[in-house]
Amino acid sequence: MSMQKTDDNRVKIFDTTLRDGEQSPGFSMNHDEKLRMAAMLEELGVDIIEAGFPIASQGDFESVRAIAKQASDDVVIAGLCRASVNDINRAWEALQYAPHARIHTFISTSPVHMKYKLRMEPEAVLEAIHKSVSHAASLTSDVEWSPEDGTRTDPDFLVDVVKTAVEAGATTINVPDTVGYLVADEYAELIKMLLNNVPGLEKCTISTHCHNDLGVAVANSLGGVAAGARQIECTINGIGERAGNASLEEVAMALQVRGDRLPYWTRIDGTKLVRASQMLQSITGFSVQPNKAIVGANAFAHESGIHQDGMLKNAQTYEIMTPESVGWQKTNLVLGKHSGRAAFRNKLEQLGYGDIGENAFQDAFVRFKDLADHKKDVTDEDIIALVDDSAGDQEAAYTLEDLKIHSIVHGVARVDVSVAARSEVHTVTTEGNGAVDAIFKGIKQATGQDGQKLDLYQVHAVTGGTDAQAKVTVRLSQDGRSVSGTGADYDTLFASARAYIHALNKLQASERRVHAHHDSAESGGEAA
Ligand code: KIV
Ligand code: ZN
Repeated sequence: MSMQKTDDNRVKIFDTTLRDGEQSPGFSMNHDEKLRMAAMLEELGVDIIEAGFPIASQGDFESVRAIAKQASDDVVIAGLCRASVNDINRAWEALQYAPHARIHTFISTSPVHMKYKLRMEPEAVLEAIHKSVSHAASLTSDVEWSPEDGTRTDPDFLVDVVKTAVEAGATTINVPDTVGYLVADEYAELIKMLLNNVPGLEKCTISTHCHNDLGVAVANSLGGVAAGARQIECTINGIGERAGNASLEEVAMALQVRGDRLPYWTRIDGTKLVRASQMLQSITGFSVQPNKAIVGANAFAHESGIHQDGMLKNAQTYEIMTPESVGWQKTNLVLGKHSGRAAFRNKLEQLGYGDIGENAFQDAFVRFKDLADHKKDVTDEDIIALVDDSAGDQEAAYTLEDLKIHSIVHGVARVDVSVAARSEVHTVTTEGNGAVDAIFKGIKQATGQDGQKLDLYQVHAVTGGTDAQAKVTVRLSQDGRSVSGTGADYDTLFASARAYIHALNKLQASERRVHAHHDSAESGGEAA
């Protein structure tokens, strides 16, 4: 018998990829990437998108505002803020454009956080909660409140702080397992304890926010739902601080596949999960491991003879869901060099990229024709790599204009690299130990940016075959900031140059954010 979908058993999905996910080292995204990701999350059926932490920097503020402006009526846009009137006002300034906006405010409540991080007495924390939640509630009727490190908070004090937030007007109460400490039934018991002891809590939505330090974030989130929570905070691919957050795709599919044990439903369209995951991998340059549930390359691969035999007889022998139900494509219709603009546009629409801007479309089409001249079959994976690589970047300080490899003699390569900085093109000739070294040196010289350290250089083949496109990831760090860039091309050296420049552009953008943040810190801000 199929489950009745009612308001009582609906679980809202609160995605924090763009806030908790984006704030972990190397995962920073530029403005355009965040907008693309937000549009994808909306298409996926996410109920609430936490778009950022508006007071953290001018860049964060602008991204939250732009995401609020592009949001439809179907989604709520949330912004994070500490328990301060300044933070809350700044968040509201960005969020007010959304058809539905939520202020999410938090403060630490565990003994260790209050003593060492906040240096505040419990009474002062209670007062700050009352003041901040009341202020947020005076701006909007949708206020979420979180006790940071809630799961290591003294239970009696947790009851007091939640009571204070509910009385002050919070409509969603989040229970963060900030350090991913709880196991098995503990998290569910904590939620039951709050429901039994906080008057009025049953009128609020209770939310889970589980980190994955012990690898049980998804299990704890599901336990929380069984205990009464009706919102799960999670991220695509489980990205987030340290070991990450509960993974959206795992939570969504667990609820979909195991409706018999977990009689709850979400609005997530499972068939878009792989695309959302791959978009994030492409933007951040962090691939998921092959055995990652749902979205890993091997999640539906059957290698051993016994398994293959079983699968041929009946797929249910070894599959609890179909690959198509989570968005893996069965047919991979191939385009060739005779395919025109209309066929290419049609293919982009099928792949869910129908709304890329005209400039990105033209750029991707030119690159597709070029690729088709060099590669026999252009597959869906090739096209996705091209489009992701061509997506516009308004903040880009540099673009690759040209690259020429002159010679490689006894391993020493000589190259010409041309980079445009705004409208001026700089061309330099450099030598290095191999072509990649020479190209990276050339980019540093042409841009005058040489303070960055190369932490990772990685090449993946987008498809099989010796004519496969290369997808290169470059990770750079400078002054404690770490960013990843990606580039795709049938020529590995071009892909490498594109990836380096993509990362350099992100580093420049993050430097602007740090400067803007220092300016805002001087005028009363401070990051979480
Ligand atoms: O992990 C955490 O405690 C958080 C809060 C800000 C909700 O991310
Ligand atoms: Zn968190």
